[in-house]
Amino acid sequence: LNRPSSVIIIGGGIIGCSIAYELIKQGIRTTVVDKGALLSEATTAAAGMLGAQAETHSPGPFYELCKLSQRMYADWTEELEAASGISSQYRSNGIIRAALTEEDEAELQSRLNWMDGAEWLSPAEVRQLEPGVTSQIRGGLHFAQDHQIHPVHLAGALRAALIRYGCVLKEWLPAMELLTGSDGAIIGVRTAEGPLYADQVVLAAGAWSASLVEPLGIQLPMFPVKGQCISVRPRTAANTHTVFVKGCYAVPKLDGTVLIGATQVEAGFDKRAAIEVIGELFQSAVQLLPALAGAELVSTWAGLRPGTPDGLPYLGRLSAASGLAFAAGHYRNGILLGPVTGKAIAGLLMKQPAIIDLAPFTPERVQR
Ligand code: FAD
Ligand code: GLY
Repeated sequence: LNRPSSVIIIGGGIIGCSIAYELIKQGIRTTVVDKGALLSEATTAAAGMLGAQAETHSPGPFYELCKLSQRMYADWTEELEAASGISSQYRSNGIIRAALTEEDEAELQSRLNWMDGAEWLSPAEVRQLEPGVTSQIRGGLHFAQDHQIHPVHLAGALRAALIRYGCVLKEWLPAMELLTGSDGAIIGVRTAEGPLYADQVVLAAGAWSASLVEPLGIQLPMFPVKGQCISVRPRTAANTHTVFVKGCYAVPKLDGTVLIGATQVEAGFDKRAAIEVIGELFQSAVQLLPALAGAELVSTWAGLRPGTPDGLPYLGRLSAASGLAFAAGHYRNGILLGPVTGKAIAGLLMKQPAIIDLAPFTPERVQR
């Protein structure tokens, strides 16, 4: 009852597409508009770690959101594969977060006070699990539940599943303006092809989201955080688990390459990959996994993480903007948070029982 019959989603990254996927499956006429090619920005620049434990530094609602999404992943990717015929290369090989300094060791060990699914390993135990790791490490946390997918393969599966279910995909068509009705509610978007109208609109434009609501007097503090990665092909296998230290991670992929990431630079919307970063990232990775020395460079790229001042995404509605739902600001964890965001925001639009309390993530928190 009262569910929308049509929805427009602004932004076809993993967040917009996972919401579209949940809606289209329930028979809602869904249109995704993207300023470029679908799934071509932060989503396919990502490493693909599903690091609820590895990437969380304190307990609380964000950690719970991450864990819920992590638990959904195996079924979600299986369902996408059944719909699309494309495997997202989901792998349950775990993450080792190793300490190189006394400070890292203290920070990682303090997580044991509240974090489930983490086990402290001595240097010898780390090297037993992952023999290629440098002898310089002081031990580390093993997160057996922290899994991974390949973002490019996941993107292929999501896109094909959306097409299969009849979602309308409008690529290379920027949403230029949110359109309001006579009662002030959001009723659509203006594009170069003319206006598009729907019962509900979702803002899922990643790092670009704030500029669309600014003309309505709505604050959505966000900033892009550039991350550059390299992909290399080692001469012999360097690691079977993802190995993560402060400032560097090495994620082994099924095709024999190792994805090494990532920088963290606040430099506006410039996402050019810098040549000097290739050497720096590679040096850090070789220090961590000496067997990477002599590896072949496969590629380098950069993407823009959608950052927010408090590190939390904006999920939910604003009283000042009826007809509009927000799903942006997933910063370092948007791949992990794809399934939970898709289900939670689709559920909100469909007025279904909430799968998780979105109150801690409400965009109202920044409307002061
Ligand atoms: P995006 O993927 O950026 O998509 C937003 C879309 O909106 C884009 O396609 C864009 O073209 C479109 N858009 C913007 N403006 C408009 C407009 N006006 N009209 C229409 N469309 C518009 N997360 C993890 O969970 N695990 C990881 O291992 C991981 N590694 C990462 C490594 C790097 C180097 C980077 C950069 C990010 C990483 N992330 C990771 C974070 C993750 O990639 C992001 O949080 C996630 O992709 C955000 O998804 P999104 O859909 O919000 O944004
Ligand atoms: N989550 C890994 C990154 O953002 O680099």
